[in-house]
Amino acid sequence: MSVLLAAELVFRADGTPYSPLHDDVYHSPAGALAQTRHVFLKGNGLPDAWRLKPAFTVLETGFGMGINFLATWAAWRSDIERSAALEFVSIEKYPFSADDLRRAHAAVIDDPYVMPLALQLADAWPPLVPGIHRLSFDSDAVGLTLIFGDIADALASLRAQAFIADSLYLDGFAPARNPDMWTPSVMASLAALSSNETTFATYTSAGSVKRALRENGFEFRKVAGFSGKWAMLTGKRATSPIETNCVID
Ligand SMILES: C[S@@+](CC[C@H](N)C(=O)[O-])C[C@H]1O[C@@H](n2cnc3c(N)ncnc32)[C@H](O)[C@@H]1O
Repeated sequence: MSVLLAAELVFRADGTPYSPLHDDVYHSPAGALAQTRHVFLKGNGLPDAWRLKPAFTVLETGFGMGINFLATWAAWRSDIERSAALEFVSIEKYPFSADDLRRAHAAVIDDPYVMPLALQLADAWPPLVPGIHRLSFDSDAVGLTLIFGDIADALASLRAQAFIADSLYLDGFAPARNPDMWTPSVMASLAALSSNETTFATYTSAGSVKRALRENGFEFRKVAGFSGKWAMLTGKRATSPIETNCVID
């Protein structure tokens, strides 16, 4: 049985979790949960988008500390009009150990409603073995599928299962430092894992990402980023010829 190398948990002087491997931070120093709520929830039209649906499925690139999962789960369970089920599928090549996940959560989670969910996640954390790990919470209404492995392999296996997401959270490290999370081939796979209703959001508006999105079936617009950041992207799979569907304000 092979085991993955655990990510190294390092904090910058300002307390923000940092990856020495990618030379980048896991989230904005202005707030992990607040960033998720702005970029990924609002950017995907949540909570409205899951209302009136029997189940709602999120696909995330880069699980990291699970802040996006925890914020999504917290928003879902506090919404009386939520979908009956929430499925969250996330891909991670360098997972933290359960102990480091606890340390990271203790350092950055500033919402007393989210902390008990973080403790449940760390208690259920799987061994760092490559492949698919299925966790469930809230009497099985919330499913978390963690795919431990490289983004390209994980997306190929989801394509083989004809998986379709309702929302995409694109959350690799900065494209210049983590290009394998933002390749044209990753975007082509994400388009194949989308329906005409699927939305996406990402904190970046890098030119290389816009090109890869545009050339692989997504239309998007720039909106104000989190905490004074000039722009982020939100959009969906294009329904008509790709070249004519890029809207940039
Ligand atoms: C910005 S962090 C994600 C933060 C996370 N979404 C959260 O809510 O805490 C980016 C993540 O992408 C992962 N990653 C980087 N390259 C990868 C690859 N090739 N395949 C899969 N995951 C990768 C990193 O290990 C890191 O955890």
